Amino acid sequence: MTERTFVMVKPDGVQRGLIGEIVGRFEDRGLKLVGAKFVEIDRDLAEEHYGEHEDEPFFEDLVDFITSGPVMAMVWEGQDAVAQVRAMMGETDPAESAPGTVRGDLGLDLGRNVIHGSDTEEGSAEREIDLFFDDDELVDYERIDEQWLYE
Ligand code: RTP
Ligand code: MG
Repeated sequence: MTERTFVMVKPDGVQRGLIGEIVGRFEDRGLKLVGAKFVEIDRDLAEEHYGEHEDEPFFEDLVDFITSGPVMAMVWEGQDAVAQVRAMMGETDPAESAPGTVRGDLGLDLGRNVIHGSDTEEGSAEREIDLFFDDDELVDYERIDEQWLYE
C-alpha cells in the first residue's frame, strides 16, 4: 500500500553532516521525497511530537536534545513506507541496531540516535506529518523511475 511517513534527521545527524547520507539511502531505495524543511523545533512542538513519552524519565532530556539545533524534517512516500523506513532506521538503540541500518551504521548511543521515523502505530505518521507540514507544503508528483520500481 502506498503511504507516507514522517522522517527527521535529528540535531546530532545534522551537526555530523549526515543529511546527505541519510536522504541518499531513502532515495536509492525508491522512496519519494514529498516534503522537506530545515527547521529548529520549539519546545511546544517537541513536547507535542514526543507526547507519548511525557511520563518517561528521559522525556526532558529528549525534548532538550531535539530542540538543541536544527533538524531536517521530511515526508517520504512509497509502498509500505512507514514499516520500510523503520526497518532501514534500525532499533531505537544504535548499539542494538544491525549493520546496514542508519542507526547501526551511523550511531552508537541511545540518546544520540541520528534519525526519527514514524512508528507503525495506526495514525502515528499522519499525526506527525500534520504536526510539521501544512497540506500545501507536500508535493504530488511522479518519479521518473516509478514504473521500474513497482510491478
Ligand atoms: P524516535 O521516536 O526518536 O524515532 O525513536 P524510536 O521510535 O525508535 O524510540 P521511542 O521509544 O519512540 O523513543 C524516543 C526516543 O527517546 C529516547 N529514549 N531514551 N533512556 C531511555 O530509556 C530511552 N528510551 C528511548 C531515544 O533517543 C528515542 O529515539
Ligand atoms: Mg518513536
